[in-house]
Amino acid sequence: MTQDQLKQAVARAAIEYIKPKLFNDSIIGVGTGSTANFFIDYLGEISDRFAGAVASSDASAARLKKLGIEVLDCNSVSELVVYVDGADESNAYLHLIKGGGAALTREKIVRAVSNEFVCIADESKWVDVLGKFPLPVEVIPMARSYVARELVKLGGAPVYREGVVTDNGNVILDVYNLQIIDPVNLEITINQITGVVTNGLFAAKGADVLLLGTKDGVKTIF
Ligand code: 5RP
Repeated sequence: MTQDQLKQAVARAAIEYIKPKLFNDSIIGVGTGSTANFFIDYLGEISDRFAGAVASSDASAARLKKLGIEVLDCNSVSELVVYVDGADESNAYLHLIKGGGAALTREKIVRAVSNEFVCIADESKWVDVLGKFPLPVEVIPMARSYVARELVKLGGAPVYREGVVTDNGNVILDVYNLQIIDPVNLEITINQITGVVTNGLFAAKGADVLLLGTKDGVKTIF
C-alpha cells in the first residue's frame, strides 16, 4: 500500500469510529493536512448526521465549506464532541508532534475544546522517541531571534521556516536535534519563552486514540 492509501484507510476508519458518537446537534473539530483532507472528503458523505465543524485552519474551513458542511467560529461553540486530525509523529503514549502544516496553534485550541482527540496517521509517523521530525514553534514575528537563541540554550537547532506566515499572522521556527525524552516538560518549558505562541508538542493533552495505518490494517491504539 502507498502512504496515501494508508492515509485514506485511517480517514475511513475515523469516520466509522466517530459515527456512533454523532447526533444532529454535534459539532466536530477538524484538523489540517493531507490525512485530515481525506477525512474531510469522507465527512462530506455523512454531513446529514451532524450540525457542523470547527476547523483548525483556513484551508480546512474552505474544504469543509465546499462540501456543504457548516463551519462555525470556535467562540460560538461550548464543546466539540470529537476532534480528528493527523500528526507528524506519535509515541506509544500518544504524545504527538504536530504543526508540519503550520496550523499548530489552532489545532491546540480545537484539541482543548474537544471531548476526545482521534489522531489518524500512517505508520511512518510512529516513533519510539519524539524529535526526529523538527518541532514546530509558532512565534510572534518580533521575537523570532530571541526565541531562537532560547531554543539553542535548550539544545535545539531552530530553523526559520521562510515564506510561511501562519493563519494567526505569526512565523514558525522548526527545531532540529531534539531527543524529546520528557515531552510534557519540554512542551511547558518552550511555551514559557516570551514570544512563543505555542509549540507543536501535544503531550500535556495528547491524543485519546490513535488510528494507525499499517500494511496489516488499521490499528486502534489507546
Ligand atoms: C498540520 C499538522 C498535520 O496534522 C501534520 O503535519 C500531518 O500532516 P499530514 O497528514 O499531511 O502528514 O499538524 O499543522
